[in-house]
Amino acid sequence: MTQNSMAISIKINKTKQSRIHLCDFNNIQFGTIFSDHMFRVDFENGTWQNPQILPYGDISIAPSLSALHYGQSIFEGMKAFKNQKGEAQLFRPIDNIKRMNRSAVRMAMPTMPEELFMEGLKQLVQIDKDWIPTKEGSALYIRPFMFATDDFVGVRPSKNFSFIIFCCPVNSYYPKPINVLVEQKYVRAFEGGVGATKVSGNYGLSMLPTQEAQQKGFDQIIWTDGKEHNYVEESGTTNLFFAIGDTVITPALDGTILEGVTRDSCIQLLKHKGVKVEERKIWIAEIIDAHAKGLLKDAFGTGTAALIAKIASIHFSGTTYELPPVEERFVSNMLYNELEAIRTSQTEDPFGWVVKA
Ligand code: COI
Repeated sequence: MTQNSMAISIKINKTKQSRIHLCDFNNIQFGTIFSDHMFRVDFENGTWQNPQILPYGDISIAPSLSALHYGQSIFEGMKAFKNQKGEAQLFRPIDNIKRMNRSAVRMAMPTMPEELFMEGLKQLVQIDKDWIPTKEGSALYIRPFMFATDDFVGVRPSKNFSFIIFCCPVNSYYPKPINVLVEQKYVRAFEGGVGATKVSGNYGLSMLPTQEAQQKGFDQIIWTDGKEHNYVEESGTTNLFFAIGDTVITPALDGTILEGVTRDSCIQLLKHKGVKVEERKIWIAEIIDAHAKGLLKDAFGTGTAALIAKIASIHFSGTTYELPPVEERFVSNMLYNELEAIRTSQTEDPFGWVVKA
């Protein structure tokens, strides 16, 4: 069957056997179960071709596939929810589409026409809408990704690419507040590098430092800047926020920080509520100083998968700094509740973030 919409024709091949009965919606482990379908479009001869929705399943690749060797591979993360009428809706999809195209430019990959991306995304979510969980904090996580498909081992930008979107029902990424270690040996990103983009390698490089921190009993690390290790940058897979006194601070987007959609939503929400927000360089020393003075009221990570990851304690240079009990925190609780309410249309969306699938 072919469905036409906005002059974009997407071939649709639905699965004959849904796997939804295999999903225990009361006990979802992040990233382990995938919805019935995926959207795929391939870049060949200089254009995106053959957009299709097909059953989720294995793809065939050559051992010489250039993405595997040189990492020309990018991805996104976004989420779908059900509104109060049970209709499928997306949260700020255009921002993820634009960011994916910025990542593509940085990695010498072709950009994806926004209309094609949006249409494939919406049709996929509509077809798999029964997979959207409705329990508080849960969502259908959407993973668009693009990778180089030339079977060629010379180092040059690939000429062929595949773009795929698949989905998985998820609960919150971190089931409890996290204990973080300030990382001062390894580096995530450097000026002029790819820290601002969602390049697969940014996540691959985080695994050893995170593993080492976990072996010491921490849940995650806080990345510091690559020059002096004096400024905080991100935490694990999230952007970072601190509430010091009445002001909320977050590292400025200086090229090494991922331009998080949840980060931006939190900044807009805080300003909307009249809370003072500063985007700037943040010294580790000022966090420690604020803690000593009793002014460090809150610390949390933000991201699509994690939403709001509350930080229970920060370990820096041999000392663990405990934060106030999570239930007493105004900023992270307010942001979590507001975002959850907007995404599921329990409250009005004054920002126009929610888009029908
Ligand atoms: C997201 O928040 O969407 C991410 O990309 C984190 C993911 C690596 C689990």
